[in-house]
Amino acid sequence: MICLEKYLADSAATEALGSLVGQHVKDGDVLCLSGDLGAGKTLFSRGVATALGVQPDEVTSPTFAIMNVYEGSELEIRHFDLYRLNRPEELEDIGFEEYAGGDGITLIEWAELFAEQLPEEYLQVELRHEGAGRRALLKARGERYERLLEEVEKDADFGH
Ligand SMILES: Nc1ncnc2c1ncn2[C@@H]1O[C@H](COP(=O)(O)OP(=O)(O)OP(=O)(O)O)[C@@H](O)[C@H]1O
Ligand SMILES: [Mg+2]
Repeated sequence: MICLEKYLADSAATEALGSLVGQHVKDGDVLCLSGDLGAGKTLFSRGVATALGVQPDEVTSPTFAIMNVYEGSELEIRHFDLYRLNRPEELEDIGFEEYAGGDGITLIEWAELFAEQLPEEYLQVELRHEGAGRRALLKARGERYERLLEEVEKDADFGH
């Protein structure tokens, strides 16, 4: 499994890494974002969405809405936050399983709370507090995402 690691010294670095990944995603890709409260999942998502043509201020935390939808210049982006859901049945109610991996790009915050319901393949984005900044781990779950990370790696410096 390919795993890329990067230290993100400030908020701008979190958004920039999201944007870098966003430049390489393709229709149907799923990104699962995990990490503790305030780790930077929404900010990373904003970076991904803006790289796809969404205005940055349109991207807000879906904690209460559970799902936000943004229109990118070519693709639709569905941005989930599963934090407030308690049971897998609630995922069915919002049509989660039809969306995840369907047309467009799917971003899922707090994906680890519903590990059983996730698609088989996805890019796992782990964010952790470290000092004043964050550490990001990008892990490919499936071949498509290994290709994605290879492209991301070519585009930037990793390994710190
Ligand atoms: N690399 C970083 N260094 C310092 N602060 C950061 C970094 N990345 C993000 N932040 C800050 O952390 C705060 C929380 O960010 P964000 O809302 O994206 O986190 P989250 O993981 O989505 O939180 P939640 O668990 O509530 O969904 C924001 O104020 C953001 O600017
Ligand atoms: Mg969030």
